[in-house]
Amino acid sequence: MSHAEAVERRLRFLLDGRPRDREVTRPERLMQAMRHGVLNGGKRLRPFLLMESAALFGIEGEAPLRVAAALECVHCYSLIHDDLPAMDDDDLRRGEPTVHKAFDEATAILAGDSLLTYAFDIVASEETELPPAARVALVTALARASGLGGMAGGQMLDLAAERDAPDEAGILMLQAMKTGALIRFACEAGAIVGGADADERARLAEFGSAVGLAFQLADDLLDLTSDAATMGKATGKDAAAGKATLPGLHGVDWTRRQLDGLVAQAEDLLEPFGETASMLRAAARFVAERKS
Ligand code: IPE
Ligand code: IPE
Ligand code: MG
Ligand code: MG
Ligand code: MG
Repeated sequence: MSHAEAVERRLRFLLDGRPRDREVTRPERLMQAMRHGVLNGGKRLRPFLLMESAALFGIEGEAPLRVAAALECVHCYSLIHDDLPAMDDDDLRRGEPTVHKAFDEATAILAGDSLLTYAFDIVASEETELPPAARVALVTALARASGLGGMAGGQMLDLAAERDAPDEAGILMLQAMKTGALIRFACEAGAIVGGADADERARLAEFGSAVGLAFQLADDLLDLTSDAATMGKATGKDAAAGKATLPGLHGVDWTRRQLDGLVAQAEDLLEPFGETASMLRAAARFVAERKS
């Protein structure tokens, strides 16, 4: 079974209607909205990176799968809230109506809240078969990647950038936070789950940062060059909102050269892992060359 299939099945299981320990009931409409926001055909890139990073250390099975599913819950929450009228005001996501369109705004906010908190429940649970210290390290790293100094903070800077164009360093910082932090966490979490030493953990985190930057550069490039039918979400939105992006500032050729450079940097970081890292190398290339 591929990583994507395994994660898909696990997410379906975690988001079924059966109340778990200490839950009295799972309100039907909220459940449906959460399922709509998660089980709608994402690429599952972050889970893939996490599971492949753990596999570098010979770890497969329950622990990486649960942490990967938790990370995907945080990612899907970030998309549900990113699409809200108060933020990007988007109607289409993964080729389907966004959660606030299919349900309503209040339900979309609560679905996001519930996915975020559920992620920490999943990681911290004893069912995630890791020593308590590893679970605490994962909860801490996931909280930091998601919050004030990570994704949510980056989203704040991204909104501010529509009014006040940041310089290049400012754009790089907001990208590293809004998108980079969760992708960096994916790779670092694989190292934590795999019981890596401090050097290996730092190396994977750095690999994740390079991939994360490439990922947002490609997203901004596709916003400029692709179309909604291919992407499953609206395009041309960044320019319309007056948002400064690096592809917008420097053009398509410059961006492609940057992407090549980031892939080379990411590949170099994997050097010490040799052949076992071939899937991670392929993932870095996929991120930079993706068409949707
Ligand atoms: C989209 O992420 C949001 C950004 C961070 C640019 P993905 O392109 O990974 O979205 P899905 O999960 O495949 O829909
Ligand atoms: C969103 O960036 C990053 C998140 C933290 C959700 P975008 O606003 O560019 O993502 P898309 O283009 O809507 O997927
Ligand atoms: Mg946005
Ligand atoms: Mg958006
Ligand atoms: Mg975008």
